[in-house]
Amino acid sequence: MIDTHCHLTDKKFASDRDAVISRAREAGVKRMICVLTEFAPEDISLFNDLISRDGIWGAAGCHPHEADGYEKIKGILPGLLENKKIVALGEIGLDYHYDNSPREIQIDVFEKQLQMAKEKKLPVIVHCREAGDDCAAVLKNFRDVKTLLHCFSGDSAQLEHWLGQGYFVSFAGPITFKNAGALRETALKMPLGRLLLETDAPYLAPQPVRGKRNEPAYVSHNYDQFARLKVVKKEDLIASLSLNVKEFFGI
Ligand code: NI
Repeated sequence: MIDTHCHLTDKKFASDRDAVISRAREAGVKRMICVLTEFAPEDISLFNDLISRDGIWGAAGCHPHEADGYEKIKGILPGLLENKKIVALGEIGLDYHYDNSPREIQIDVFEKQLQMAKEKKLPVIVHCREAGDDCAAVLKNFRDVKTLLHCFSGDSAQLEHWLGQGYFVSFAGPITFKNAGALRETALKMPLGRLLLETDAPYLAPQPVRGKRNEPAYVSHNYDQFARLKVVKKEDLIASLSLNVKEFFGI
């Protein structure tokens, strides 16, 4: 299995980070993509250490929550992305649920980073919350950038739109939540050839451990849920997702 999106540098892992990584490996999560969203020097050095390890790759980008701090990040980001273990730019996008940064700044920073991804020939991981129309409008101008919609929580119409654009779509813990019948119904329409699974740890712990700190080992629950939903064997799901990871991230 692979956890395509976890925040291993998060302070919630400060006391037992190495144990978290070992537990993931013991649970069969052989690969992880660590997503950096905070750019203090100590975060960056921890990130570089983590992605230097076997089985851990990285992604880095200015999260829409931090868009109004982009001026500080934009000087650091291009150099960071030169590391061959970094396989995507992200997470980037628009979040109109929290509106932590003004929307026009979020859009501007999203566009600038898509341009950077295009120049660096990196795929992007997109965070899109309650901003589907604006995300679609921005992404339309970057057709040649490989795009993954992370932690999908939209409806069927949105899913069909993203798939129609050729994007990959990734699901996290909410697919397992007891009250997520509508999301599971939508996920039934998800073609396995365009699917990725993730934890978004330390957030969004799946059903059996919901409410606790999430960690990469728990991506197994998301695999179980998807295998049940699509009536496929877990090992077949693992095999097809590993082809998708190769196609999208090149690893
Ligand atoms: Ni995330």
